[in-house]
Amino acid sequence: MKVKVINSVSRYTEKDIFKYLISIYGDRFEKYRTEWQLSSEGKYLPNFPLCLNYELIDNCNLRCIHCARQVQKSNRGRLGIEIFKKTIDEGERFFLPSIKIGFGEPFLERQIFDMIDYASNHGVMDIIVTTNGTLFGEEEIDKLLNSKITFLRISIDAASEEGYAKVRGGDLSAIEGMVKRLLTKRAERKQQLPLIRLSFVVTQENKHETELFIDKWANIVDFIDFQNYIEPPMPMLENHTDIEPVCSNFFCSYPWQMMAIMGDGDIRACCSWYGERLILGNLKSGTIKEAWESKSMNILRGQIRANTYTGYCAICVTSR
Ligand SMILES: C[S@@+](CC[C@H](N)C(=O)[O-])C[C@H]1O[C@@H](n2cnc3c(N)ncnc32)[C@H](O)[C@@H]1O
Ligand code: SF4
Ligand code: SF4
Repeated sequence: MKVKVINSVSRYTEKDIFKYLISIYGDRFEKYRTEWQLSSEGKYLPNFPLCLNYELIDNCNLRCIHCARQVQKSNRGRLGIEIFKKTIDEGERFFLPSIKIGFGEPFLERQIFDMIDYASNHGVMDIIVTTNGTLFGEEEIDKLLNSKITFLRISIDAASEEGYAKVRGGDLSAIEGMVKRLLTKRAERKQQLPLIRLSFVVTQENKHETELFIDKWANIVDFIDFQNYIEPPMPMLENHTDIEPVCSNFFCSYPWQMMAIMGDGDIRACCSWYGERLILGNLKSGTIKEAWESKSMNILRGQIRANTYTGYCAICVTSR
């Protein structure tokens, strides 16, 4: 199913965007980006994650053919606004600069806009949300534009009705119309945020639509991102105990940058599908700081520094 991915298309450079966000948030944003860069190379370990990656709800209204939800059955439920606030309160004590929201379909969580407001009012500057975009009417479009979301990533994966129906199910013209209304309203309000990125996971089913996708959107949205298809972990991997360690020059920076917070309160070492095997605590009985500084997390960092990947990390790196 994997095919070679063409590049991304962007109306802005990273430099333009950071310059703009620094003009809004000042030196603190610049410091965050410097720390992000250093930690991406393992040269800096912050005393708390620079980003928390949330699953607000373990549920989705679509059944995309490429998504791991089709093979990984789970029932983690909803994180809930009270636990969410608890994590933001903890983050605020360590100047948490960014969050990502993007497991399942986050807009099935009806309190998502209150959660985003809370994060923004408690020091979070960079708020990145990934969505299938199917749940936005006029009211939600206004709420998106009133929110402090910096990046809104809308997953489309197709350029024709037929392709969209095959890959994601549903009505492409509805989602395209919504993206255009969102962009028109943003322009009318003379605001630049949220930046809008459309994404396309390239598979055998849709690879012939990439050029048309670029033609449709390149001059309209802020970014188009073509992504590699990643093979979802098969259920047969469950309880696998004899995975051979793998040597790799790939440097996984996640344990220097972020942690994932799941719908059931689990704190995971990373947001990858294999993170399911890297649970370091739960918010009912522990803190993010404890998980970040735990022995298991430090062992993981040590192995990555030594270019050795064990357990499910070994499968993760070989699947890239
Ligand atoms: C898991 S979804 C969650 C957010 C939201 N439901 C959406 O579709 O954007 C996040 C992103 O992961 C992408 N994704 C899902 N399965 C994938 C796979 N097998 N390989 C690469 N990306 C995948 C989706 O297309 C989407 O852009
Ligand atoms: S909308 Fe997102 S979470 Fe839902 S099935 Fe598609 S890719 Fe997966
Ligand atoms: S499973 Fe391991 S290698 Fe893969 S992203 Fe997570 S920490 Fe990195």
